[in-house]
Amino acid sequence: MSKTNTGNGSRIPFGTVTITQKSKDLIMDCLERGRVSGGVLVGKLEDEMARLLAVKETVAVSSGTDALILALSSLYDFGAERGDEVILPALSYAATGHAVVHAGFTPVFVDIDPETLNIDVDKIEAAITPRTRVLLPVHLMGKPAGMDEIRIIAQKHKLTVVEDAAEAWGAEYRGRPVGSLADLGCFSLYIAHIITTADGGLVSTNDERYAEVVRSLRGHGRACACKVCVSTVSGGKCAKRFADKTVGDRRFRFERVGFSSRMNDLEAALGLGYTDVYQELIDIRHKNLMALIAGFKQFGEFFQVFPEEAHEMIGPHAFPFVIKPGAPFDRDVVLLYLAENGIDPRTIFASMPTQCGGYERFGHRLGDFPHSEYVGSHGLQIGVHQDITAGDIEYFLECIGAFIKSHI
Ligand SMILES: Cc1ncc(COP(=O)(O)O)c(C=O)c1O
Repeated sequence: MSKTNTGNGSRIPFGTVTITQKSKDLIMDCLERGRVSGGVLVGKLEDEMARLLAVKETVAVSSGTDALILALSSLYDFGAERGDEVILPALSYAATGHAVVHAGFTPVFVDIDPETLNIDVDKIEAAITPRTRVLLPVHLMGKPAGMDEIRIIAQKHKLTVVEDAAEAWGAEYRGRPVGSLADLGCFSLYIAHIITTADGGLVSTNDERYAEVVRSLRGHGRACACKVCVSTVSGGKCAKRFADKTVGDRRFRFERVGFSSRMNDLEAALGLGYTDVYQELIDIRHKNLMALIAGFKQFGEFFQVFPEEAHEMIGPHAFPFVIKPGAPFDRDVVLLYLAENGIDPRTIFASMPTQCGGYERFGHRLGDFPHSEYVGSHGLQIGVHQDITAGDIEYFLECIGAFIKSHI
């Protein structure tokens, strides 16, 4: 496995990218064939990912955000109407909220459960109105949301469930991969994630009808949206393409207001290189995450962490920790200290409706989502990736210990 750090020169960069020999060979082959747009390799990646996620189909798209936008937009084929409401947690990477708005739905935010960072399932029913159409849980930091409760609520109110599993590669809920637990799942393949195609995303589903609409939407809403395109895969003639004389070329008949959200074969080649090393990467990252959670026990007075529970496996995306109320330091001081000591930290995002710009028109005020806002101003994360060694973890824990000593 060859490795190239994407860090900024830090001893512990936030992320890394693994570029395997298989990816390099596939990319070279692609270049030599002169076929770089989406085709055989995108199809292969979709099949591999469907196997990995234990779903019938996946559809590769150009980003995790587009995965969400297309998954949500596919619901217009199944009775949803513009302006219908999507219930989502207030705390997430801003892309979750952006996707809801760009897909033409109205976001209805619910505060998080501070013990899990995920949507507080006990608050969902109070947010349901006659216009509610979708529940959109986010498995933030790879920790699965409360899918049992969410599915029960969805069944009772006849709602569609779309999982935002962008950060949840490798996560399992009661023994099943997240992204396979609802009507549609959405993953990111951006470089910050466990598998990457540089930029990219994936929609997962067990319902071929959704997959077909998402395929159509990713290519401008065109009528031809077969799972395997005979023209691109084998260069063969498609029997369906000119079959309907009234419409002419089916490939250039547009049935929906679609998007330009394709993945290309060069990107798919990068992603396919991960399939042989996926489990190895998950294992290393999971071990790092568990070591950090255990190592932070000694700092329990000052920091909250999010342990793995019996019913789940956390997808080892990163290590989140939140400064507890009453700690004698604020987040900016910790961020700066870590950066100065060669550790590349991130915040845990923000409350979309009250701490991100652009959501003012939904009428919320700071204080409406106290748990999300608290994490938005006190949460941090560092990487757990495959290039981080036991020595790095020890060093990080020593740094935190020294920081606390100098502040109490
Ligand atoms: C929870 C969540 N949803 C959606 C996205 C969007 O993914 P992308 O950056 O690939 O568009 C991300 C990105 O990291 C994310 O963390």
